[in-house]
Amino acid sequence: MCGIVGYIGPKALDSVLLVGLKKLEYRGYDSAGIAVLNKDELSICKAKGKIINLEEQLKSQGLNGHAGIGHTRWATHGEPSTKNAHPHTNSDANLAVVHNGIIENYLEIKNDLISKGYVFVSDTDTEVIPHLLDYEIKKNISLQDAFLNCLKKIDGKFAIAMISEKESNKIFFARNGAPLILGKGKKSIPESFIASDLPAIIPIAREVIYINDGEWGYIENNKIEIFNLQNSPIEVKLEPIEITEEEIEKGKYPHFMLKEIYEQTSILQKIIDTRLDSDNRIIFEELTFDNEYLSRIGRVIIQACGTSLNAGLIGKLYLEILSKLTTDADFSSEFRYRNPVAGGDTLVIGISQSGETADTLAGLHEAKAKFLKVLSFVNNKNSSISRESDSIIDLMAGPEIGVASTKAYTAELVSLFLFSLYMSSIRWAMPKEEKFKLINELKTLPEKIEQILQKLEPIQEIANYLKNVSNTLYLGRTFNYATALEGALKLKEISYIHASGYAGGEFKHGPIALISEEVPSIVIVPEGEIRKKTISNLLEVKARKGKIISIITENDKEVKDISDFYVEIPKICEPLSPILTVIPLQLIAYYTAVYRGCDVDKPRNLAKSVTVE
Ligand code: G6P
Repeated sequence: MCGIVGYIGPKALDSVLLVGLKKLEYRGYDSAGIAVLNKDELSICKAKGKIINLEEQLKSQGLNGHAGIGHTRWATHGEPSTKNAHPHTNSDANLAVVHNGIIENYLEIKNDLISKGYVFVSDTDTEVIPHLLDYEIKKNISLQDAFLNCLKKIDGKFAIAMISEKESNKIFFARNGAPLILGKGKKSIPESFIASDLPAIIPIAREVIYINDGEWGYIENNKIEIFNLQNSPIEVKLEPIEITEEEIEKGKYPHFMLKEIYEQTSILQKIIDTRLDSDNRIIFEELTFDNEYLSRIGRVIIQACGTSLNAGLIGKLYLEILSKLTTDADFSSEFRYRNPVAGGDTLVIGISQSGETADTLAGLHEAKAKFLKVLSFVNNKNSSISRESDSIIDLMAGPEIGVASTKAYTAELVSLFLFSLYMSSIRWAMPKEEKFKLINELKTLPEKIEQILQKLEPIQEIANYLKNVSNTLYLGRTFNYATALEGALKLKEISYIHASGYAGGEFKHGPIALISEEVPSIVIVPEGEIRKKTISNLLEVKARKGKIISIITENDKEVKDISDFYVEIPKICEPLSPILTVIPLQLIAYYTAVYRGCDVDKPRNLAKSVTVE
């Protein structure tokens, strides 16, 4: 969704801002713009569509200066257009604002300002900020006081950056519910940064501080000042950046998604190495809940969105089967509004790779309002969800740039699996031998994923067939029901082919009506207790002349013979099979999208981090 970058310092401003905006592209956007201060003069450049359009315009407009802010906009209020693109200014065009989030009371403020003679030129909620600031400034107070007064009048979620001709040596900022980071470059260079997301200021920033809700202030070349809403100063504690430039570059891969699919081997290895000691004991260093509390948990509710919820559906099975804990998994967007009945012994688990998903964050607030404890599985320790949870489990997947989540998903699965085994020990829910058997199986995953990644031909053959298809069905049961959902989600997200995932047992209750020669079924049928039942689904498809693509355990001759296409995965116990079966499905979606000429890393209308409801 929307992204912010700001810079004050000696470097070529247009290029710093453009590089930053490009690094934010993966979040999803439909227009972009920058505002710069050159000496005391403000200039703006905006363009609809991709950053390249902004770049083209900048070539003719040639903006430069010593301080500037940039923005990528994902339309909420008003269509994607140049007029609605940020930065927005007051009517005198001497101050400019970029904003992420939503100003909830914007209409009230807008109507009030209109009655005072202010003229609005865009359809956005954001535009109230520069006009309100203008109104406050005209009370003859300092810019700093005007900014604070303005913050006190706006409601909603926001991250804001603002520059003004009045104090051209500063970039003002504020955060309430949307992430914002401040940074400094090399000690020898008098420069400071603002960003909504770390990649925007890597590699030039060296140290950063993640600011909290209700904090605001300004950056100068050599100074960062932060205040709270009571106007008291907050200590500025900068920390070194942990993410490397390499982690946010494509390297030898044509797309981030492919890079991230291939990274799954090393990420799972890292998780296994970090979470298991030499005696196969499970360690969650960051988990602040003690065993006494954990043993008292009587029920778990998992709430998440999209791919993270698919992981949560498998997590539900892990917690129920391995830890014998009653568990529900629900869409955060439903959980937050359905007023769930939950006793004090309920633990709410949030899962989110970004840690910023608005619905998941709201689900967390809903749980807290009911005095329930919240544990979140997150890939960003500094995210809003991390900060507001009672405790977290770090997914350790590294930055995920491709919009379609891949490595974060398998990291979520492995982390949920290990957490369930951890809980099973606390609850004495499983004999030790069985637990160690599962751990030993888990340790084989990285090598088995590698084996799947080595054999691309059958996958590419399937993608080549699917590229001309309009509708697909994905079927799976028990541990692989959610794999069917995830496989279908991946395909539709990036190739725009309609795909629906179903539980195999539900197939006869409706979806079977869709089967024809033109509608293939992708059936996940690894070795295990449920295999025979899933084969019945295959036969039902076959009887109706539907094409069958199956994901099978190696050498499963029976299923091979029924299938039109198949991909083999190495042998693995059933609970861990979703971590392998999803790999070919990710690759099938990837190659199908590539063969259809789709923009794999930046699919239309999607955002990596959905920070509005
Ligand atoms: C968006 C992304 C999905 C992601 C979902 C949840 O819709 O496009 O890929 O699964 O948000 O994101 P989260 O960051 O909470 O895991």
